[in-house]
Amino acid sequence: MKYSKIVLLEKKHQKAAFNCGKPLLDNYIKTQVGQDSKRNLTVCFVIVNDANEVKAYNTLSNYSIQQEEIPVEYAKKLPKSYSRIPVTLLGRLALDRELKGKGYGEYLLLDALRRALEISKSALGSMAVVVDPLDEEAKNFYEKYGFTLLPDSGKMFLSMSKIEKVFAG
Ligand SMILES: CC(C)(COP(=O)(O)OP(=O)(O)OC[C@H]1O[C@@H](n2cnc3c(N)ncnc32)[C@H](O)[C@@H]1OP(=O)(O)O)[C@@H](O)C(=O)NCCC(=O)NCCS
Repeated sequence: MKYSKIVLLEKKHQKAAFNCGKPLLDNYIKTQVGQDSKRNLTVCFVIVNDANEVKAYNTLSNYSIQQEEIPVEYAKKLPKSYSRIPVTLLGRLALDRELKGKGYGEYLLLDALRRALEISKSALGSMAVVVDPLDEEAKNFYEKYGFTLLPDSGKMFLSMSKIEKVFAG
């Protein structure tokens, strides 16, 4: 079976059989993402197989967090009057069981980080990428790529300056 490169979710893509093993993430792609995309709440990127079945997806949205939530090393450089700070939300990222453990998780994550960085440099300011890990497994995955836990919310943060360094080589 061949898999596509990362493309925007389209109507022709089949979502019904998606199974990453986490019901919240399975249900989201099956029942919610179409509405969210139509309402411009999110943009969904997918990897599909030859039969156009979705085998991996992630979503990106505009988001903001309170300045108090920003790690102190970054917050100390921000104007105090900016109560909310623009960031990019990598809302969801999941692979069908069929694709797990083969490097696709990293591929999808790095693609989202690169996309977020490009947009932040050229079209829409954003200080960081924020993720909302579902559980310990997801938290450990994001930690591996440098994300740090934000206080209270359970969300994790990776600054755009660090992302820039990743792609600078
Ligand atoms: C978490 C998930 C995206 C990882 O994808 P994957 O394709 O299995 O991961 P990869 O094969 O790309 O692995 C990349 C690296 O991350 C590591 N890794 C994978 N899952 C990990 C985890 N849960 N914790 C720590 N490291 C992890 C791998 O060992 C690998 O490291 P290496 O290159 O040093 O060997 C995938 O398992 C998944 O979809 N899980 C269910 C949904 C989910 O939890 N999504 C994330 C939060 S919303």
